[in-house]
Amino acid sequence: MRLVLLGAPGSGKGTQAARLKEYLQVPHISTGDLLRAEVAAGSPLGLQAKEVMARGDLVSDEILLGMLRDRFSRDDTRAGFILDGYPRNLAQAAALDELLASLGQKFDAAVQLTVDNEQIVERLAGRAKAEGRADDAPDSVRKRLQVYDQQTAPVIEFYRQHGQLTVVDGVGSLEAVFNRIVEAIAPEKAVG
Ligand code: AP5
Ligand code: MG
Repeated sequence: MRLVLLGAPGSGKGTQAARLKEYLQVPHISTGDLLRAEVAAGSPLGLQAKEVMARGDLVSDEILLGMLRDRFSRDDTRAGFILDGYPRNLAQAAALDELLASLGQKFDAAVQLTVDNEQIVERLAGRAKAEGRADDAPDSVRKRLQVYDQQTAPVIEFYRQHGQLTVVDGVGSLEAVFNRIVEAIAPEKAVG
């Protein structure tokens, strides 16, 4: 299964991907996690990305595509993948199609998790207290939501117009959301 998980910051992409990865037995590729690992390692790429991420802006398309190419060059992605955090603008959507085409692949579904902004702000405020992620500060969350509306929402529209979008309600227990996703992508495998 080749899955693209879409949704606003805090919509539960990472949380659900962690479960889907076990269920589908394919790697979870989170561009946010890859970037945070670079920041933590203090690599040149990480140093470049750190401030951009902290304020809630997008890191350059060029850096992202390089990272993604690198990740997709690993054998484990042949079995499938759950892509989380990419694409975030139309240029990235085109780059993803090209990258997959060059590998003789296509994704099976683009799943959008929908959560209203009020709940998103609440979730991320909770995580800011618990984990202290730099971009969960209120100003950065505002910026991330703005960037999402301006740059990522058109990607969702693009996939919708191309009949590639599956919309899933992201509000409810982790279990409930997980079951909705599974039902949407693979009804024959639905549990519970
Ligand atoms: P990234 O790491 O992708 O962050 P994000 O998409 O902004 O948001 P999150 O990861 O916070 O949300 P999520 O949807 O994964 O939700 P989660 O499961 O964590 O990107 C970070 C930054 O990296 C970007 O701003 C950008 O700078 C850069 N970047 C990354 N990709 C890029 C790209 N392609 N191009 C350019 N730049 C890029 O859940 C959130 C919280 O809610 C958690 O506390 C969780 O416990 C809780 N929660 C989850 N599900 C539920 C539920 N059902 N009910 C209640 N609480 C829940
Ligand atoms: Mg995430």
